Amino acid sequence: MSSVANATPDQLPAWKALQEHADALQGVHLKTLFSESSTRFEHFAHQAAGVMLDLSKQRWQDETLDKLLALAEAAELPGAIKALLSGQRVNTSEDRPALHTALRLPPEASLEVDGEDVVAAVHASLEQMETLVSRLHAGQWRGATGKPIRHVVNLGVGGSDLGPLMVTHALADYRPDDVHPVEVHFASTMDGSQLADYLSRLNPEVTLFVLSSKSFTTIDTLSNANTAKDWLLGRLTRHGATPISAELVIRQHFIGVSASPEKMTAWGIAPAHQLRFWEWVGGRYSLWGTIGLPIALVIGMDNFRALLAGAHAMDRHFQAAPMAENLPVLLALAGIWNVNFLDIRAHSILPYDGRLEYFAAYLEQLEMESNGKSVTRQGQAIDYSTCPVLWGQLGPNAQHAFYQLLHQGMQPVECDFIAPLKRYDDVEDPETRRHLQTQHRLALANCFAQSRLLMLGDDAIDDDGPRPPHKRYRGNQPSTTVLLDQLTPHTLGALIALYEHKVFVQAVIWDINPFDQWGVELGKQIATETQQIIDGQAPADHMDASTRGLIEAFWAADE
Ligand code: F6P
Repeated sequence: MSSVANATPDQLPAWKALQEHADALQGVHLKTLFSESSTRFEHFAHQAAGVMLDLSKQRWQDETLDKLLALAEAAELPGAIKALLSGQRVNTSEDRPALHTALRLPPEASLEVDGEDVVAAVHASLEQMETLVSRLHAGQWRGATGKPIRHVVNLGVGGSDLGPLMVTHALADYRPDDVHPVEVHFASTMDGSQLADYLSRLNPEVTLFVLSSKSFTTIDTLSNANTAKDWLLGRLTRHGATPISAELVIRQHFIGVSASPEKMTAWGIAPAHQLRFWEWVGGRYSLWGTIGLPIALVIGMDNFRALLAGAHAMDRHFQAAPMAENLPVLLALAGIWNVNFLDIRAHSILPYDGRLEYFAAYLEQLEMESNGKSVTRQGQAIDYSTCPVLWGQLGPNAQHAFYQLLHQGMQPVECDFIAPLKRYDDVEDPETRRHLQTQHRLALANCFAQSRLLMLGDDAIDDDGPRPPHKRYRGNQPSTTVLLDQLTPHTLGALIALYEHKVFVQAVIWDINPFDQWGVELGKQIATETQQIIDGQAPADHMDASTRGLIEAFWAADE
């Protein structure tokens, strides 16, 4: 995308200007930047769609941002945003659009891709999903023996698991209370341990499985699905005096969600119980459509639509706000500055709200599967850093685990602190509400204190005398704080969309394709070959000594 023909981003004049600027800023401590301006917060904090982004604790100044914005211009970011949102084929290696934003367009919008009105198709799929959700919520979806379904187990992995898992956990308070109770569970791991737990506890008569897989070829999900199918058939077909057909069991106990209706049909999913989505929705960007069925089951369709509306509000901001006030652009530029110019290549996600327990896991896939790349879109080898190592944990728990490294380790880390401003307003009992709101203030105090300590180091407290080196804090660690008015379906939608677009902006600047994941394909092939060897169906002699040794250890244990 660079404006200089065949130039990689690091050859652009704007990149070189940033390198020189970083050299000049070296040694300038964050505390100095704060002492130079009393309005740094007002200057570097921005709001949109119920989300506030405080970028004042980034180790940068006005000039830095101007130069980063110049880099974004040189990388032709405004054109790239238009291309993404208008359905151009931005996923170049797979020659297709990446239209997750179309999944949250309102029904009155229109967007045509390859002659198809995608908005109409999206809303038709949401309506089909709503029909299934309504039946389950009305207690009208009955298992093969006639009892209403009480448990739904989502079988999926990666994007077919992490998004729904994260959102259902975050928004569990938004369960509608006037519906037939349906509990939603998740099993993703191919080793079967999560599924085995459910199979030992759940009643097959009232349990339904959702097979969530864009490709419908993922062995992790299909192996869980086959185990679930046999568990149901074994228990239900010979259930009472009258035999029940396998067809009826499969029809009443499985829903499929996939971009491949043929494969769902071949597996046995009844056409009426197939929910569709499209190749132009990337797996890790798919929670907004029918892959979001578990979300809709937990929070109801009205709240699901509010989640979409929140994401759409952030999409509109991304599309229309000037670059210098555009939240996803600014968040992305902070990351670029840290990774490529300050050499900070670790990034920690630290929510201070227990409901966001799975947010870091979700972002691990979103960011690292999208931007963990080492060739440009034209296939040239890259010699600048791309996606940092990103990981996280609930902040309060991480304080007692890895914050030691954040404060005193040798590895610099950029941190994102995330918290809602308001919490527990709706707790009915006044005494409990008072206690819980005190706990919320405690969490906020810790959140704000930690980013301040990371920034100021020893200067955060008045020294009560000289301290030995092992008790000293260097500070100068950059962080971003993201505050939500409250954690609602709307603000969560906006928060997720903020990170989706941040990933896109960084990909544009790094000149990589964030919408493919070829780096995970070879491992799948090799695993298939290795399984044949483990099963004794292929020879092991050509294996390396380590792999052969491990396989032989398994054979010895299996005897
Ligand atoms: O292996 C990686 C991956 O392809 C992810 O990109 C995807 O989210 C996950 O596997 C699951 O894929 P599917 O939804 O096709 O089962």
